[in-house]
Amino acid sequence: MPRAIISPSVLASDFGQLTAECKRMIKGGAEWLHMDVMDGHFVPNITMGEFPQGLANPRLMSLQALPFSHSPRRYSSCSYPRAQGSFAFAKWVNDIADAGGALYCFHLEATTDPLSVIKSIRARNMKVGVAISPDTPSTAITDEVANAADMLLVMTVYPGRGGQKFLERCVPKVAELRARFPDKDIEVDGGVGPKTIDVCAHAGSNVIVAGTAIFGAPNPEEVIAGLKASVNA
Ligand code: DX5
Repeated sequence: MPRAIISPSVLASDFGQLTAECKRMIKGGAEWLHMDVMDGHFVPNITMGEFPQGLANPRLMSLQALPFSHSPRRYSSCSYPRAQGSFAFAKWVNDIADAGGALYCFHLEATTDPLSVIKSIRARNMKVGVAISPDTPSTAITDEVANAADMLLVMTVYPGRGGQKFLERCVPKVAELRARFPDKDIEVDGGVGPKTIDVCAHAGSNVIVAGTAIFGAPNPEEVIAGLKASVNA
């Protein structure tokens, strides 16, 4: 099973200090940053309809950052988006790539042609993630789609808001995907923290998105270290 990757969801951060919050998380041991950009279409609420990198109006864009350089300039704009687009993604791929994105993850539910979305992402030399919502079975991710992707995301809340209750019923999907794809990154996102990480890690997830649990903690680096230890145990 791949090693732990911790990806704090900045939805739970102080948006007024986004740059400092991003730097704080990377300094605190996070490998990636997870940013939810929502414009009220795919999900009912709005977060940052337009991401600082000038991404125009995505539906549900959850940007996860994969820092491939530690230059302060790049942190200042948090320009490492790993985007989770959920609608009309083809038009966002270039924006994300131009902003320095390393991985683009999209929701399976919002496309009838995942392979063409994957192709457009690869054309911009980004890695690919495929996300499924709580009501979507793991079998909806075919071998063909999974083999064309680098990461599979099992949402453990309904997309759209941070701070929701963890849906343990989604965890078996992690185990199902881990059994099918022992070496692939498998991510969980939503309500994950010290109380819920063990069941996720035991099922086989190695990429951990956590917002409230990390940003709400007096000592985020301790939470990050604890999540990592649980996955790597
Ligand atoms: C929901 C978002 C999640 C959310 C996680 O659509 O994708 O990333 O921010 O936040 P917590 O960890 O607070 O549930």
